[in-house]
Amino acid sequence: MSHVFDPGYVAEPFLSLCAAYPEADAYPASQFRLEWGPIFHRGRLDGSARMLVIGQDPAQHETVVRRILVGEAGRRVQGLLAKLGVTRSYVFINTYLYSVYGSVKTKTRRNPTLVDYRNRWLDALLVGRRVEAVLALGQAADEAWQLRKATQPAQSANIAYAAVTHPTQPESFSKGDTTKLAAATKKLLQNWNVALQAVSPHIHHPDEPMPATLHFYGDAWADGDRVAIPESDFPAGLPAWMHEQDGWARRAGKDALAKRRNITITAPRGVVA
Ligand code: URA
Repeated sequence: MSHVFDPGYVAEPFLSLCAAYPEADAYPASQFRLEWGPIFHRGRLDGSARMLVIGQDPAQHETVVRRILVGEAGRRVQGLLAKLGVTRSYVFINTYLYSVYGSVKTKTRRNPTLVDYRNRWLDALLVGRRVEAVLALGQAADEAWQLRKATQPAQSANIAYAAVTHPTQPESFSKGDTTKLAAATKKLLQNWNVALQAVSPHIHHPDEPMPATLHFYGDAWADGDRVAIPESDFPAGLPAWMHEQDGWARRAGKDALAKRRNITITAPRGVVA
């Protein structure tokens, strides 16, 4: 059986961006899980991307597979792109290279080393490239875009832009309260419907024809709203369950420090009887 995979950082400027990157000089270990290393991107680096998505920070599944937005948040965004006909021609980067631990201080968010390095990625993906629209997931990503826009005002003005609610904001906000979760999900989907409407006229080269009338979200997630992440977005040799499923990696431990040191990977039932 033949497999497709993402070859990774094989050409400039991505080779250099992945050879030297901010570490504790810009990302304090008290605010980021530096111990698991930086995770850079997901999607096309060959100039074919028509949409750029800015996420927030990687979690445990991203840490294992070394690509971003590969869990539930990623599937939700993949569904949003699919509604715009974008099924291959996209690229994702996060606001932060490392997983956030606790919260990020304003001074850290604005650290010139952190911001300049992220702007180098944004320039690499946008300047002289074909991206038609940028989507920012959550407030930190919106700020990342605004900081880059200030350095490239003319170039940024040529690209459609939408800042949307982060895909897993309803879960973080509702903290297990199902009534709050339903209300926050409804609000998120309304917010995403506004973005769909705003961005769709600017996608001139979708991978699949965009439907004559957009398929808007309802009040809750429906069949087809969450879309599987293609095998071609993952590094070579990953077992199918790692990209087809979720919930196989968790931070386990008896206290905060133990949890920080550990990511437990469990192959799902059915894969191993
Ligand atoms: N995983 C990521 O890599 N980024 C997000 O914003 C959320 C989950």
